[in-house]
Order: sequence, then structure tokens, then C-alpha cells
Amino acid sequence: MNLYKRNLLTLLDFTPEEIDYLLNLAAELKDAKKKGIKTNVLEGKNIVLLFEKDSTRTRCAFEVAAYDLGMHATYLGPTGSQMGKKESIKDTARVLGRMFDGIEYRGFKQETVECLAKYSGVPTWNGLTETYHPTQILADLLTIKEHKGRLKGIKMAYFGDARYNMGNSLMIGAAKMGMNFVACAPKALWPTEELFNKCEDVANSTGASVHLTEDIDEAIKDADVVVTDVWVSMGEADSVWEERIKMLLPYQVNSGLMAKAKNDAIFLHCLPSFHNLETKIGMEVYEKFGLDGLEVTEDVFEGNQSKVFDEAENRLHTIKAVIYATMVR
Ligand code: CP
Ligand code: NVA
Repeated sequence: MNLYKRNLLTLLDFTPEEIDYLLNLAAELKDAKKKGIKTNVLEGKNIVLLFEKDSTRTRCAFEVAAYDLGMHATYLGPTGSQMGKKESIKDTARVLGRMFDGIEYRGFKQETVECLAKYSGVPTWNGLTETYHPTQILADLLTIKEHKGRLKGIKMAYFGDARYNMGNSLMIGAAKMGMNFVACAPKALWPTEELFNKCEDVANSTGASVHLTEDIDEAIKDADVVVTDVWVSMGEADSVWEERIKMLLPYQVNSGLMAKAKNDAIFLHCLPSFHNLETKIGMEVYEKFGLDGLEVTEDVFEGNQSKVFDEAENRLHTIKAVIYATMVR
């Protein structure tokens, strides 16, 4: 397997074998870190982390992974660089490509990360756009493998906004890895027909299945993995909260829903999550709409079935695997 110099823009570009290779590499790197074995094979290299949106996990995972691999990482946040204001993405890509050996981008448009990849000449990794969140899916798949021992034949039921980065990317990842994926949401929040058809084609070749439904009982039946995401994503207007809550409250992951999944089902969420009143936005939504949990309730989030912090830790190991595979010759 050789992924040297490859970009990670969407998992659509990767074969099941390549994804499996990255997951196995992540598990090896995780094991090495736990045992204190050094992996600083990229000493002398430099990467840049471009963030047009906020981040805790993705930024920290890229930074710690870079340091563990012996590299330096430069962070450019939403303000402070010339990108997009005085300098085009294409020019920025060519400048950064002269100085850095790899580029991570988190922001709005998928076209931006594609442009960075095209013109920088160095491996470019998508740390989240409106359309895809591929590094998150690698962490989710590794977490499922750790808890279920396999991916093939596992039923993943996703509840919530199914037309954004997480819904789209989970469908792709599940289709690639032979899983049975169901997105359960009101029709207005389903993925595009174009992406669904692509995933259906992938599923036909891997033995997976992909399905969209508004029927909660049908979606949750026999689910091994229950997943949700925030109802309003970064970059969306605050004004959409009211409508989103109306649309998605019936699809909330709560103990009633979890009780209908398999007894040993696990719960995943990419985080950050609104499950109590301990955040500023959570409190604002509570004051306006009277809800103390949104996409998931506190009891499920804190319950035994929740593996969200294993999943968060796995961001580090899977991102390290992506950097390693694409940068080590
Ligand atoms: N899950 C995830 O991408 O988290 P951050 O926004 O904190 O990076
Ligand atoms: N859909 C969320 C994912 C956060 C990791 C967002 O884009 O804000």
C-alpha cells in the first residue's frame, strides 16, 4: 500500500483497502504511543494548519500528531493571514507549498481545500468543510472496530442533519467499509441525490447498504451504532435554530430511542455536543426554547453506551496515520 503524496479531501477518493490500511496504521501508532515508542520519523518537516473555523479536537490532533512524528506545526487561524482577503486561495497554496511539507485546511467550501491541494504541490488534508469531514470518519470507524471487532455488516443509524459534513461523510465511510447505513431525518435534511447515488454504487461493490428514511423505528431497529451531530453547524446562521429544532426534535437521541437499538449498541458523536446547559449556546437555546438537551440527552451522552471520548482520542491516532501514510516515503 502506498499513499505517499496523496491528499485526503474526501473518503470517496480512497478504496476500502486504503481506508483499512489507514485504520490499521492508526491502531499501530496508538499502540506505539501507549508503549512510549518514539515515532519521530518526520523530523525536519513542517506542516501548516489553516483554520477558518474554530476547533478543539482537529487542531489539537494535528498538532500533537505532528509533534509526535517529530515535525513542527504552524497554526493560522481565522484572522491573521492574508488568505482570502488580500490573497487568493491559489496564490496562498503556491506560497505555502514552498514553505511547508503538508497543509491541513478547515473552513467553509470544499473547493477551497481542493484548490489548496491542486496548487500547493504538497499533501493536503481536509479538516472539515461544509460538505465533508473525512478525518472524523476515520476516527469513528476505528472506534467502531475497537468496540465491535469489525465494520462489515455493522448497522449504523444516523439521526439528525443528514445533508451536512457528518451525515455525508458517515454515509461514504459506511458504504466503503461494507456497513449498513441508515440516515433518519426529515426529507429536507437528506443528502443530495447525487451523493446518495454515488454511495449506493459504492455500497453495491462492497456489500454495504445505504438507506434514507423518516421512520425512526425502522432506522433504530437492530442498530449497532447510533450517531448524531449538532443540529446547527459552524457557519450557519443563528436564525435557523428555531426551524431546525422543530424539524429535528423528533429525531433526538434519548434513552427511549437507545432502548430500541441492539442491547449492546454504542453511541457516537463527533463533538462538540449540546447535551446540557454547561455551554453558552446551550444556555441561550434553553432560555429561548426550554430544551436542556438538543441532539442528544445528558443521560445518553454520559451513559455506558456512549463512546464519544474514545472517539475523540482516536482523532489523534487516525490523523497521525493520515500524515504518516501521505508524508513518509
Ligand atoms: N469533531 C471535531 O471536528 O471537533 P473540533 O471542531 O473540536 O475540531
Ligand atoms: N457538523 C458540525 C461538525 C463539527 C465537528 C459542524 O460543521 O459544525
